[in-house]
Amino acid sequence: MRKKIVAGNWKMNLLHSDAIRLFSEIENQQVSEDVIRIVFPPCIYISDLIKSAKNVLVGAQNFYPKENGAYTGEVSINQLKDIGVNHVLIGHSERRMFFNETNEFLKEKVDAAIHLGMHVIFCCGESLEVRDTNNHESFVINQLNSSLYHLTSDQLKLVTIAYEPIWAIGTGRTATSQQAEEMHSHIRKSVLERYGNESADSISILYGGSCNPSNAKELFSCSNVDGGLIGGASLKADDFFSISTAY
Ligand code: 13P
Repeated sequence: MRKKIVAGNWKMNLLHSDAIRLFSEIENQQVSEDVIRIVFPPCIYISDLIKSAKNVLVGAQNFYPKENGAYTGEVSINQLKDIGVNHVLIGHSERRMFFNETNEFLKEKVDAAIHLGMHVIFCCGESLEVRDTNNHESFVINQLNSSLYHLTSDQLKLVTIAYEPIWAIGTGRTATSQQAEEMHSHIRKSVLERYGNESADSISILYGGSCNPSNAKELFSCSNVDGGLIGGASLKADDFFSISTAY
């Protein structure tokens, strides 16, 4: 019942022609129909990619949680929906750190997206400092409690959780499969306690942070890891393919 998802977060990378080429390479890869692939390109490329998308979904890395109005430079969730976007990332640690997105603001983003029936990949994860003091589990559950667990169980069906320890993002220092499994099972337990069996059994929980072709198989073999949110390795078609077929 849990969906297998491999999502590529391209972050602020690639020029237009590279993005078009990479997307067409990924589109043409033969991957099991059981695996849902989603790419999150820079916003200005979304329209072009969506037009040629057949096998791969195209989502948005960011949006501003107001319908419209005087918010210079921002893109609304309604505008994304209007061009065919159905998936958004919320809560990425880079947005929390560099753009000061707080738990309260992320809750607003969650509500705006869910209100329009969008699928949300909600990111959580602790810094090294928090892990070193052994507070990582309560830290992550607090992030989920603050921004996500006010949703109803029906609304939660639109949500996928991505656990991305900050110390593993872009560092080459992947969480061990044991560390990932421990946190994922802890997150699933929190869903069970808040929403019950059905939600806990059906929600997908992805791992993100230096996931690559050489560690994806081991990570995906953990019983509570349902896929990955991939940064650097999603920028290379071959690597993304290896990860998408690592189940
Ligand atoms: P890396 O795979 O480059 O570590 O990035 C992970 C990430 O932040 C995906 O959102």
